[in-house]
Amino acid sequence: MPVTTRWTPSPPEAIEVERVFALGAAVTATDLPGDRPLPRSLVRAFLTPSPRERMVLVLAEVSPALPAQAPAAPSPPGEVRAPAPPAHAPATLAPLGEAEAPPLPSSLRASASAGELVGMVVIGLPTKDNRHLAWLEVQVHPGARRRGIGQALVEEAASLARAEGRRELVAHALVGGAGDVFATALGASVASTEAEGRIDEPVSQLRHWEELAASARRVAARAGFALERVEGPCPAHLAASLAQAKSGMNDAPTGALDLEPRSTDVAELRAVEASYAAAGVRQYRVLARRSDGQVAGYTELLVGGDDPGLGRQEDTTVLAGSRGHRLGLWLKAEMLVWLAAAEPGLRVIQTWNDVTNAHMLGVNDLLGSRRVREWQTRVLEI
Ligand SMILES: CC(C)(COP(=O)(O)OP(=O)(O)OC[C@H]1O[C@@H](n2cnc3c(N)ncnc32)[C@H](O)[C@@H]1OP(=O)(O)O)[C@@H](O)C(=O)NCCC(=O)NCCS
Repeated sequence: MPVTTRWTPSPPEAIEVERVFALGAAVTATDLPGDRPLPRSLVRAFLTPSPRERMVLVLAEVSPALPAQAPAAPSPPGEVRAPAPPAHAPATLAPLGEAEAPPLPSSLRASASAGELVGMVVIGLPTKDNRHLAWLEVQVHPGARRRGIGQALVEEAASLARAEGRRELVAHALVGGAGDVFATALGASVASTEAEGRIDEPVSQLRHWEELAASARRVAARAGFALERVEGPCPAHLAASLAQAKSGMNDAPTGALDLEPRSTDVAELRAVEASYAAAGVRQYRVLARRSDGQVAGYTELLVGGDDPGLGRQEDTTVLAGSRGHRLGLWLKAEMLVWLAAAEPGLRVIQTWNDVTNAHMLGVNDLLGSRRVREWQTRVLEI
């Protein structure tokens, strides 16, 4: 399969966001029927590298259009077929990334060609910690599957990651979905399992959350804690303390995943806030403050400006010294009470938690979140 590459400036051009959005929408319609596609604003934000990673986007483009072809017969059980040369028109693979892109493997060459987008892999290369791994998000258009494109994309990612000194590729796959079988066929092991939870029609549960927030407040306020709502950039006097509190996320269980602890600074906090603002994503945070004013915990949630119906839960943590005062429940109930007023168009809030994270899952259950499906973190040694 002839392979060519090109880099685009970061953040990605509007045209690339549009193509990636359209591919994601087609994949969602097939693999997660009933879900709405990730909004353009969130696609754009997630394609913008943070100061802690470099990002490469490899696009599988076919030109001329892919001819109709029946899917290949499945391999016999237990057998993993070696990649065969495709019978269809040659695909063009095109990586693009930020200006400071990593050196390209010599097998790749620059080209500006652009054809029909049939697949992509986003490769995240952490630069501060966890430099032994690369995060992947692989998608192939439902009309172009079982032709070796997914495998070719992972091979491109592996070659690029190896050139960067990485030892592992890490990706998420829906349990029982095409990605699950694909990851197994490629030899990726299961490192952990996450439950996806959903709160539907959030406004309808307002009364329940108000009661939960009030009961948690009675316990936490007695221990000297107070909450503060923050929309958008964190106030300057709290930014260093919030950046420090992010270390609490290192305590979240991640199964057999070989992860080093991460630390965050104010510059990184600001860069991430700026990328959300530039992409049109609304960022909500509730901070828990100790009696001395320091941040003891926080919860974060994103709402896409172009799809105000979808909320995505991000971090929630309470620092070790402040646990056991119902702060986790208070933070999340307070966030939901706030959103019911601030985002009346919300249809659903999605959240992901490791299946062994009994504390967080217990809080989410109390809040009325339903566990709808499971995702696995897959690791491929390269
Ligand atoms: C998973 C995905 C990327 C696979 O893309 P693809 O181009 O169809 O994959 P390939 O053709 O390279 O498949 C390689 C091998 O994986 C296995 N495989 C892939 N999809 C499969 C499926 N739906 N059923 C059974 N086996 C499958 C097969 O062994 C296949 O080889 P074969 O066709 O010679 O039997 C695609 O289905 C997709 O985008 N799914 C939704 C997103 C996702 O799950 N991403 C991956 C997360 S790890």
